[in-house]
Amino acid sequence: MRPDKKELLQMLSLEGEKELQELYRRAYAVKKEYVGTTVYFRGIIELSNICTKNCYYCGIRSGNPDFPRYTISLEDALAQAEWCYQKRYGSLVIQAGERADKAWIDLVSELLRGIKQLSNGELGITLSLGEQSLETYQRWFEAGAHRYLLRVETTNRTLYRELHPADHDFEKRRNCLALLRKAGYQVGTGVMVGLPGQTYEDIAEDILFFYDEDVDMLGMGPYIPHHSTPLAHLVEGFDKMQALTQGLKLIAACRIALKDVNIATTTALQALHPQGREMGLLAGANVLMPNITDTKYREGYQLYEGKPNLDENADESLESLAASIERVGESIGYGEWGDPKHFFRRQKSVAECRMNDE
Ligand code: 5AD
Ligand code: SF4
Repeated sequence: MRPDKKELLQMLSLEGEKELQELYRRAYAVKKEYVGTTVYFRGIIELSNICTKNCYYCGIRSGNPDFPRYTISLEDALAQAEWCYQKRYGSLVIQAGERADKAWIDLVSELLRGIKQLSNGELGITLSLGEQSLETYQRWFEAGAHRYLLRVETTNRTLYRELHPADHDFEKRRNCLALLRKAGYQVGTGVMVGLPGQTYEDIAEDILFFYDEDVDMLGMGPYIPHHSTPLAHLVEGFDKMQALTQGLKLIAACRIALKDVNIATTTALQALHPQGREMGLLAGANVLMPNITDTKYREGYQLYEGKPNLDENADESLESLAASIERVGESIGYGEWGDPKHFFRRQKSVAECRMNDE
């Protein structure tokens, strides 16, 4: 059933510790019923900080000359994937700035084939590499990726225009979600919450968009200002706790409204509070994406201020992450893909429609 906008607005505008805890409890009960309390790990490899786009909120946008650009070598990226496989992470995410040139498309294709080979096809692969042509999406799908995350950032078209240069187009981005679906991917999107000028009404519309697009996965997080962006004036006066609460409320409202999708508890939450990701799990998220990028590259991938640079690649920190997840009463789905239940329900209803048509 399409979520009720009034109810969404009620949830998103809740305040007061007691009321918020009640909202998170409600979301957790829905999560337990629809997707269970197993957390799936996806190790993130930040493959390159080169980006052809210039989103005004982002620290690695093309217009920021303040830092060196890198691309991880194929060999190093494969070594990181191998580590992921050894540690029994079920999947990994390959993330980078947006590029659509041939050398890049080839590098990603080769990496995908290499990862499939080194893991005997066992590591699931999610891509988060921006807007591409159908042909490129298909090529990467054939090379082994099966999930794709493409955040639309905000569905308020006016706000989208204010936060991006004129050549960034919301409708093109939205159409990419359709191309991804056509290519066979499990499709994820998401928005940022707490953008300058964004209202609860906008966020309620974002959630309705997720429902209408029938997405399988969500990766959302609070907006965190960065000093070398056109929005640098927002760094001073930024309220971390308020941003954290907005992020948690959004997760909870999405879990209650959309039920069986996979929802990531994102690094932006951890940037705001050391336990932010665990809080996200308790508010309804069920996927966690530890950063496994080699620490020597991490400085170069600062999308926002204070992005945690912890070495989750080290065995001790993996152990402490596992312990803190277990402390909040969840278990980790080692070696499992943890595909979104929503995807299979969607596939089933497509198959049923086809059968009825025949
Ligand atoms: N704060 C929070 N998230 C950000 N992103 C980019 N810049 C910021 C920021 N300043 C997010 C966007 C993008 C993803 C890769 O990172 O949602 O899609
Ligand atoms: Fe590039 Fe993504 Fe940053 Fe936009 S948000 S500048 S597309 S890395």
